Amino acid sequence: MTANSPMGAPRCDRTAAWSALQGHFEAHGRDLDLREAFTRDPARFAHLSLEAPEVFADLSKNRWDLATQRFLLELARECRLEARRDALLAGARINATEGRAVLHTALRAPRGAGPLSDEVHAVLDAFLAFADQVRASAGAPYTDIVNIGIGGSDLGPQMAVPALEPYLHRGLRYHFVSNVDGSDITAVLRGLKPQHTLFIIASKTFTTQETMANAHAARAWFDAGMPAGADRAKHFIGVTTNLKAAAEFGITTTFGFWDWVGGRYSLWSAIGLPIAIAVGSEHFRAMLAGAHAMDRHFAEAPLEKNLPVQLGLLDVWYRNFHGFGSRSVAPYHQGLKRFAAYLQQLEMESNGKCVDMDGQAVPFGTSPVVWGEAGTNGQHAYFQMLHQGTDVIPVEFIAVKRAAHDLPDQQTKLLANCLAQSQALMLGKTAAAAATEMAPTASPDFDRARLAQHRSFPGNRPSTTLVLEALTPRSLGALIALYEHRVFVSGALWGINSFDQWGVELGKALCNALLPRMDSRDVSGLDGSTAGLLQRLTS
Ligand code: F6P
Repeated sequence: MTANSPMGAPRCDRTAAWSALQGHFEAHGRDLDLREAFTRDPARFAHLSLEAPEVFADLSKNRWDLATQRFLLELARECRLEARRDALLAGARINATEGRAVLHTALRAPRGAGPLSDEVHAVLDAFLAFADQVRASAGAPYTDIVNIGIGGSDLGPQMAVPALEPYLHRGLRYHFVSNVDGSDITAVLRGLKPQHTLFIIASKTFTTQETMANAHAARAWFDAGMPAGADRAKHFIGVTTNLKAAAEFGITTTFGFWDWVGGRYSLWSAIGLPIAIAVGSEHFRAMLAGAHAMDRHFAEAPLEKNLPVQLGLLDVWYRNFHGFGSRSVAPYHQGLKRFAAYLQQLEMESNGKCVDMDGQAVPFGTSPVVWGEAGTNGQHAYFQMLHQGTDVIPVEFIAVKRAAHDLPDQQTKLLANCLAQSQALMLGKTAAAAATEMAPTASPDFDRARLAQHRSFPGNRPSTTLVLEALTPRSLGALIALYEHRVFVSGALWGINSFDQWGVELGKALCNALLPRMDSRDVSGLDGSTAGLLQRLTS
């Protein structure tokens, strides 16, 4: 056992199960053909699908089988995954580099059921009461809610508000400003009236450059547009752990949270205020309840039936054995148009690490690149590459059975598209089959046999399909929690700290050092490229 290895758990690559997985991969994993696997096991769908709260998962179109799962479960056990999960949920300081607990699950535990319940529920009650007041008085004074924040203080609400579109208060408009690029706030403010605008300044630290710049711009805009003596405090709300800095900014209404809430895990806290204003306290509580149901599943379901565990193990299998460096997420629901952006921070800021808890370089890949777009838009952009490109990229489809609109015909088309894409990725098409088809747009002058090669698909491309009955506050909560726990599982096996983010520090520090040089144009001591670019940008 090394100094920081949690509870004596070995890193994944130092286990007997890892070596066994390597043998299994060479013998059966690398060449597993999904089409043959379905022929061999007609019950493959039943064997490799799972039911979790609000989410059904078809894992059968993945390049693994029951034997692979057994080897991966052995790896999980050797890495003491269950004990580590229990430590997370109990509030142990598993974010060791920052000496912090990681307790976002406490934010959605029912009153009295989780750690720190009194504190959590006092703030929850307060910000939900505030949200309901804002909703009740919609139109006077507020018509527009502007959330100013970035990263975890932006992406959650920015993703969840459109996802819950049918539940939104129709008397209010919702805006999100994050970028330090002044175009962002300028475009938002253009259509607004200060007397009808509520700004939420959301920042865990209340020091983030982008958020502070936008908050100051908003305050100046407000002051310029209102008569002297107007009550600015009614139009600026703070959500932060830094109450002092918020007060210095001139904010008198602040909802707090705690250092044990990581930014990318914070939409369950007062950072979710824009969501609560948009959908109301009842629906916000339903979102928390959905997440809590997934927490219980993660805590209690046996590992072989535990969906976040299975997805996390699949991630390790793909990243470290198949060598897939990327995963594409394709939610077939327009409400989830910001879901991939949300997952990018959740997954890549959590698991984009190259040293283990002991500070030793890890000799294997960690976070994949996560990316995607709502279906069917992605089909007309990058799916070409998913089908016929040289890289294998597992795709995660999210299908929502019941539509959020009254156009049943379009819902049928949407779902058929979703099914067809995963089918096409897996089945592919041989050149022989392509040669028998008419291709109306093909050149009559092009050799038919060669054309068939262009029109063939390798197939055997893996995908997972997650199915929700409907996109509701409850199912959205469960879906997000599923991803949070899955990220924990792969990070735990990799032996990294999924809860710090030192990788964003260097750029911030260098930016601060460059700022005075942007005025002075002093390039002494800079590398040649940065010096040349700075001169070009400031001349
Ligand atoms: O990008 C780095 C980061 O620290 C994120 O982890 C965080 O969500 C974001 O900046 C915003 O930080 P804050 O909420 O403190 O403004």
